[in-house]
Amino acid sequence: MYAKTAPNSQSASSNGTPNNLSADKPRLMYGGNYIKEGNDSAKNTCLIFSPKEKDSVGALSRYLKLFAEHEVNLLHIESRSSLRQANVYEFMVECAFGGDLGTVIENLREQCSYFSIITRNHKDNMGTVPWFPRRIRDLDKFANQILSYGAELDSDHPGFTDPVYRQRRKYFADLAYNYKHGQPIPRVEYTKEEIETWGVVFKNLTKLYPKYACKEHNHVFPLLIENCGYREDNIPQLEDISNFLKDCTGFTLRPVAGLLSSRDFLAGLAFRVFHCTQYIRHSSKPLYTPEPDVCHEVLGHVPLFADPSFAQFCQVVGMASLGAPDEYIEKLATCFWFTVEFGLCRQNGELKAYGAGLLSSFGELEYCLSDKPELRPFEPTKTALQKYPITEYQPVYFVAEDFEDAKQKMIKFAESIPRKFGVRYDPYTQSINIIDSKHQIEDLVYNVNQEVQILMDALRKLKQ
Ligand SMILES: [Fe+2]
Repeated sequence: MYAKTAPNSQSASSNGTPNNLSADKPRLMYGGNYIKEGNDSAKNTCLIFSPKEKDSVGALSRYLKLFAEHEVNLLHIESRSSLRQANVYEFMVECAFGGDLGTVIENLREQCSYFSIITRNHKDNMGTVPWFPRRIRDLDKFANQILSYGAELDSDHPGFTDPVYRQRRKYFADLAYNYKHGQPIPRVEYTKEEIETWGVVFKNLTKLYPKYACKEHNHVFPLLIENCGYREDNIPQLEDISNFLKDCTGFTLRPVAGLLSSRDFLAGLAFRVFHCTQYIRHSSKPLYTPEPDVCHEVLGHVPLFADPSFAQFCQVVGMASLGAPDEYIEKLATCFWFTVEFGLCRQNGELKAYGAGLLSSFGELEYCLSDKPELRPFEPTKTALQKYPITEYQPVYFVAEDFEDAKQKMIKFAESIPRKFGVRYDPYTQSINIIDSKHQIEDLVYNVNQEVQILMDALRKLKQ
């Protein structure tokens, strides 16, 4: 669940798409009042630095004195072996807002062999990199960066005047807010009313999938019925789905308490983590919701995350977003909108839907494959600039040849993003490596070489 950030409020939206399953009703999105900048801990700054080789003994304590002298409070200190230089340590400190951080930065720049600033407050600091999570557990920090708590409802929300529903929404928001990486996702005992609402959505949509959904979605769906309890009379548990996806593609789900910024939401994808709502829409309108809910997530999004090519595509979008300038985050979020949310693809000469906004929308699923909307080929440089309405069906859809093709195009597009370093996901440590030294590249080439040798050996055995 994410919202576009405030600077571009014309496209304020959730990842989720207006999940309006009713064909004749205008779709509603979050109102502008839901979109606000989360400033609480947004001013924290991370500094990463390595001492010059000759100064390495006792370096950290000397640097820490510098912070104390200039009254900069530290929230987190970490030291590790540098990937850039052999036998050198690297320090990462997270600084609270306040004190004379500017002077500390000047001093460190002079004294260190490597120095880098990563900050959420990047617009005010020339030459800094927008903050992004480096390890999967950094995603815990998003919990207090949400733009709006999921328990807050707009006045035209179907559940606005229902105190029981509002209480329930607070319960779900609190569950997600307190969730930490590594914990099982709390199992929810859904009420009879909630299960009935789910049942209506499930029944209506599953009738349409054989005809309109892409083959990957239809391939995975029976597996979800078998392994994750997808049934008309049962709302599947996120924990079961997350474990299933992990086995398929390494994707996992994370409950989210409210709206995330595009930057944070996309960063999650770099770790193959999908931020996911757990509450359900209001029972008075089972075929309509103004925001993503568990129906949109588990019926629309989840099946495709089990497909290896699609999972890779999502990760490519996520990786491209790390440390990217704001205008590129907007472009990537737009590409996400026209693919993961509203994408069409061509299979055996027929158009099929793979976007979750379509696969969870009773009305738009039929509309998007009619002759009414305009179709264009998916081409990230052009798609990224396409404006789109958020209160009605899309007038334009982009058609991908297949996920592999879409991925290659996204990789090419990512190369155009101005960023002074490369990023690589290390699945062993579930962390992002910033690649900005020859030493690291040499190490990686060596590792790739080893992988190639394993493959060559296997090939040789097959030939024997
Ligand atoms: Fe979505």
